[in-house]
Amino acid sequence: MVKRNKIKRIGVFTSGGDAPGMNAAIRAVVRTAITYGAEVYGILRGYDGMIYDDFIELKSQNVSNILQRGGTILKSARSMEFKTIEGRKKAFENIQKHGIEALVAIGGDGTFTGAQKFSQEFNIPIIGVPGTIDNDLFGSDSTIGYDTAMNTVVEAVDRLKDTADSHNRLFFVEVMGRDAGFIALNTGIATGAEGILIPEIETTVNDLKITLKTNLKKGKTSGIIIVAEGDQSGGAYEMARKVKEIDNSYNTRVTVLGHVQRGGAPTLADRILASKLGFYAVEALFLGKDNLMVGIQNNKIAYVPLENAIKHNSEIDHDMLRLARILSI
Ligand code: F6P
Repeated sequence: MVKRNKIKRIGVFTSGGDAPGMNAAIRAVVRTAITYGAEVYGILRGYDGMIYDDFIELKSQNVSNILQRGGTILKSARSMEFKTIEGRKKAFENIQKHGIEALVAIGGDGTFTGAQKFSQEFNIPIIGVPGTIDNDLFGSDSTIGYDTAMNTVVEAVDRLKDTADSHNRLFFVEVMGRDAGFIALNTGIATGAEGILIPEIETTVNDLKITLKTNLKKGKTSGIIIVAEGDQSGGAYEMARKVKEIDNSYNTRVTVLGHVQRGGAPTLADRILASKLGFYAVEALFLGKDNLMVGIQNNKIAYVPLENAIKHNSEIDHDMLRLARILSI
């Protein structure tokens, strides 16, 4: 076995929007750390719990039977106080008080922004585990929760297609993705949507009108337009309104899937991803790695500096939009 740095106590927390599979990652962190001889403390409600001294010891049995559960047993929050130096100082005092020598941060963009600052200011090793349904982090082909959220969307849209078809309706379905269109793009392909609107690419109401007119000519009487919440059009309600404004003949309906996408049991893919990332995050700490995010790239474990994970957004594959357009004619 590789010679490992001695770490006696590790802290783990989830922060930002929760994502299915976070529990599987917590379980992997706890059990790997225990196997390597360290104790694990769970920090409740992310950075807020660090500031307000909400720590619990996690033994192996505390993480049993959580692998298949959505949400996070450690709870999650977006901490405003941690953005201040006073907040981070309080958090560090509590970390020291509990004898925690290294941290595993499970979350997304905001979580890693805080982690990177904290690690630099107080010289505490931190490894980030990408947990967000948005998949908007650079350095991992997929983030924990992304696959589950997409499956939830696909199931919902399949149902909407039934009723859209029966009533000859055009449905605008809003999916999550404040800054990223990954969920919208892939679920659009998987459901054969007639239109996919994402923040990365501008689609005007006129572009959409042309597609819809062509579809009508071909005899398509119903349709699905997937709209990422962060799309420049302003979202599904706004786009539906604009379409109605220029052509009132469409029988439109809007469905906002919202937080439904964040819940539910993680898929097999998310359980495996979370287990791997939790395991390798702890390994990384024991191997003396620091200030990195652990990810999967081309099926292999990869580490990227936290700074890069948050700075360089993952890029949308533009060719996939072309593919979606061709396949939904
Ligand atoms: O970051 C994940 C995410 O689900 C985004 O897609 C969405 O915009 C946001 O969280 C919603 O956040 P909240 O739960 O605070 O409403």
